[in-house]
Amino acid sequence: MAFKFSDAVSGMKPSEIREMNKIATTPGMISLGGGMPGPESFPKKELTEIMVYVMENYGDMAMQYGNTLGISSAINAISGMLGKTEGFTPDPTQIIVNSGSQQGLYELGTVLANPGDTIITEEPTYVGAISAFSGNRLRMEGVEMDSNGMIVEKLEQTLKKLISEHRAPRFIYTIPTFQNPTGYTMNEERRKHLLEIASGYDIPVVEDNPYGKLRYYGNDVKTMRSMKGGENVIYLGTFSKVMTPGLRLGYTVAPEEVMEKFNLIKQALDLATNSFSQFVAYEYIRRGIIYTQIEENKRIYRKKRDAMVTALRENFEGKGEWSEPEGGMFSWLTLKSGADTRAMKDKAIKNGVAYVSGQAFSTNGSQKSSMRLNFTFGSVDQITEGVRRIGKIVEE
Ligand SMILES: Cc1ncc(COP(=O)(O)O)c(C=O)c1O
Repeated sequence: MAFKFSDAVSGMKPSEIREMNKIATTPGMISLGGGMPGPESFPKKELTEIMVYVMENYGDMAMQYGNTLGISSAINAISGMLGKTEGFTPDPTQIIVNSGSQQGLYELGTVLANPGDTIITEEPTYVGAISAFSGNRLRMEGVEMDSNGMIVEKLEQTLKKLISEHRAPRFIYTIPTFQNPTGYTMNEERRKHLLEIASGYDIPVVEDNPYGKLRYYGNDVKTMRSMKGGENVIYLGTFSKVMTPGLRLGYTVAPEEVMEKFNLIKQALDLATNSFSQFVAYEYIRRGIIYTQIEENKRIYRKKRDAMVTALRENFEGKGEWSEPEGGMFSWLTLKSGADTRAMKDKAIKNGVAYVSGQAFSTNGSQKSSMRLNFTFGSVDQITEGVRRIGKIVEE
């Protein structure tokens, strides 16, 4: 049978990240590739207790289909948690619980844009967002970044250019805090400026914030959703980095009129998010475990981040430039020689170390001599050794 495939899937490429998850489990391999939390950060004991408690106390509901937008106790708990950690307390009617924030990204692409429409992202940006938006057949226009995040002056130039080409973007997607893949954080001034520009052009802003709670150094920068003028920002959050990604739980906060549309698309996608996971998250927040776990994760990851930064300084002085993020899960390394990191990858894997090449995160095929290095999955020794191996390959 000769199957004919849709333009949507024909235009999509397999993600280097999915490949990474396979490589990460190869014996002897040091994986600095995938964006995985360290397994030692999973609160297994607490979650086991909660899971038994959920079955004994809410079993009938936890095993049942749930509301499309989410279980109300989970939604209320998420609202309260955001008030404590992110500086805004959305009305529960403004929250949808999704199967990871990844699903939220896909929903956005379906709800806010039509195939062929243009959206703005950072360049480089999260590879999973590229997948979600490509799946919706959207065109991505990346705006250059520096170590203070998206260069907002360039955003305005891009907007003007797109409007003159009759391609006004449907939304602006940003990961302002500890960005994936660069680790950069947008400063408060730029956040403010971005909100003003977006409001001036009447374009929705999407703030994706999976890493904001994982700050190891420095002072918090306000979430855009909590800032003056940020009331209409569509905000995505997740339990993946502060509980476990295995339970697949994320959420989107958006004004009610957008929520109505999410409700429709969510029914088409999977009817509702996993009820059991939502009850687990509810208890996880209600017992306050999330707040102690965030502190625990910060303790674990701060050491690993330091090991990454030290190893980069030892191996790449004069040979590259890298980010030294104050939080999150990634450093971004750019080679001065201009070497193609994708071409180098097979050699790296043969030498027992994996990373994701910069191009995987590019909206326009650039970032060829950069790579993303994850510092949360491996041990301190593996991170040190992995960066040393990459340094050796670069030298060769
Ligand atoms: C920026 C960003 N957004 C969204 C996600 C998706 O996370 P999840 O679907 O596990 O909530 C990730 C995962 O790495 C991410 O880095």
